[in-house]
Parts: sequence; structure tokens; C-alpha cells
Amino acid sequence: MSCPSPFHRPVMIAQCLEYLAPREGGLYLDCTIGGGGHAEALLVRTGVTARLIGLDLDDQALLEAGVRLAPFGERVTLIAANFARAGEVLARLGVGAVDGLLADLGVSSWQFDQRERGFTFAPDVSLDMRMNQSGQLTAAEILNRWRLDELQALFQRGEVPRSGRLAGAIVAQRRVAPFRTSTDLLRLLDGLGLANRRTFHPATLVFQALRLATNREQENLTLLLSQLPALLKPGGRCVFLSYHSLEDRPVKQALREREADGSMHILTHRVVRPSEDEVRSNPRARSAKLRAAERPASL
Ligand SMILES: C[S@@+](CC[C@H](N)C(=O)[O-])C[C@H]1O[C@@H](n2cnc3c(N)ncnc32)[C@H](O)[C@@H]1O
Repeated sequence: MSCPSPFHRPVMIAQCLEYLAPREGGLYLDCTIGGGGHAEALLVRTGVTARLIGLDLDDQALLEAGVRLAPFGERVTLIAANFARAGEVLARLGVGAVDGLLADLGVSSWQFDQRERGFTFAPDVSLDMRMNQSGQLTAAEILNRWRLDELQALFQRGEVPRSGRLAGAIVAQRRVAPFRTSTDLLRLLDGLGLANRRTFHPATLVFQALRLATNREQENLTLLLSQLPALLKPGGRCVFLSYHSLEDRPVKQALREREADGSMHILTHRVVRPSEDEVRSNPRARSAKLRAAERPASL
């Protein structure tokens, strides 16, 4: 396996492989290919016959993954697509279902570190936040154009405290000057006492809520989950890695519902967390939660 890419250090690789249990000749779907780290580990594990389809919204990630996975040649198919449409993508490729599916949710370290992509709340960063750079909607557009009630609903959905007050302050502020950079928003949050608490940075929740809305992340995840277990062959497995409760909760709930109706069997009755060693060497792994389930072989 090549050296860990500076693009993104894949999280909980060993546990992902343990639960996916990839095998020779299998077909796998990486819904969030990113820099291709998980995909590479899976392809190495499965010898020379397994194949992998990788999706991403971000063209730059697909380029990076293309370089990393080039040694696997035609075993890899990379597609610019939203995982919300995973079923359609598979159908277009003439594939009914896969032996394993991985969804490593959220943004990659690389996306986060690219200031011009606007995912960080470092000062003077443009309020972009699009994973798909050809998408129309940016975080600035949301702040400058969405109605008061839409903004309030967005922040409520993102579990931001005092969402009504925040939405009202945004609408008042944009009458004075439009929001362009993270500094414009941080200044407003500071004025509301939302940017300077000692504990968890409340601005984190505001920026996260905007990112979720810009990329329709919650809707996309719901749509992906709604395609289970159909995306999987009988005996096929899925693994979800999430990084905050707004990702983990819908995964947990969907898998429980599938288990209740007998269409899936949960493999992780207790959520799986990274080891202390991994968190020490990759602090971005600290909030990761892994959940996995299997489509029963008899269905
Ligand atoms: C945490 S990174 C994945 C990193 C990857 N596992 C690796 O080893 O490098 C998440 C990736 O998912 C992509 N992504 C997020 N939502 C998506 C969606 N709805 N459809 C397709 N890709 C998505 C992001 O653009 C990002 O590249």
C-alpha cells in the first residue's frame, strides 16, 4: 500500500475492512471516494479480482483518487455522482447490487484545509462550502438570500442554539452589507455572544449547519439510507462512518428500522470508535463513529 496521502488520512481502515469483509471477486461501492484511501485498502485486501465503483461530488477528489487507484486499472470505476442517486448510478453501469458499500460521510481533510473552498471558519475565507464546485448554491447565497423562516429552520435543523435570534440578526445585517467571508459571519456571531465561549466553539455549529444546507447533506444521506437494502446483494454489507450526531443519528435509526422489518441485520450493536492510538496520530478521527449492517443471505 502507498504512503498515507496528505489529501486525507482514512479513518478506521482496519475496522471498515473487518465489517465489510471484502472478498475476491466481490463488487464494492465506495459512496465517498475522497482521496481513495479506504478504496485502496479494500482493493489491496481483495487480491486481483474484486472491483470497486467510487463516487464523489468533488471533481478534485475524483482526480486525486484516480491517481491513487491507477495501479488497479479497470478494477476501478470512478464517477462524479451524488450517493443519493447510488441506485441509478449502479443501474446505468448495468449493476443490480453490490457485495459491500462504504459511506465515509462529510468532508475530507483536504477539502477542509483548502481555504478557498470555505469549509473552515478561519478568518477571511470566502463563504463557499460547496462539495460540488459546479453547484449553484453557496453558503453566502444562503445567508444573503434565504428567507428568515428558512434560515431559522436551517439553524434549528443544525441544532444551533438561539436559531431564531441568529436568523433575525443575519437578515438585519445583510440589509447593511452582504455576507462575503467567514469574518463577516464571525463578527455577527461574536456580537451575539455565539463565537467566544470557552468550551465547544458555538460557531462550529453555525458553520456546520450552513455546510449541511449548502450540500443538502442530510437529504442526501436520507436518500442513500432509503435505498437499503436494495443496493446490497443478499449477504452484502454496508459500513457508515459519521463524524457528528446529525450524521450518526439517521444512520442508527435507519439501520434499526431495517433490522426491525427483518431486511437487515445490524453488525455493530455498540457503535465502534477509533482507538486512542489512531486519535493520537490523526486527531480528525476523534469524533468518528462506525456502524455496519448486513443484508441477510436469504433475502
Ligand atoms: C470523509 S471524505 C472520504 C474520504 C475517503 N474515505 C478516503 O479514504 O479518502 C468524504 C467525501 O465524500 C464526498 N461526499 C460528500 N457527500 C457526498 C455525496 N452526497 N455524494 C458523493 N460524494 C459525497 C466529499 O466530497 C468527500 O470527498
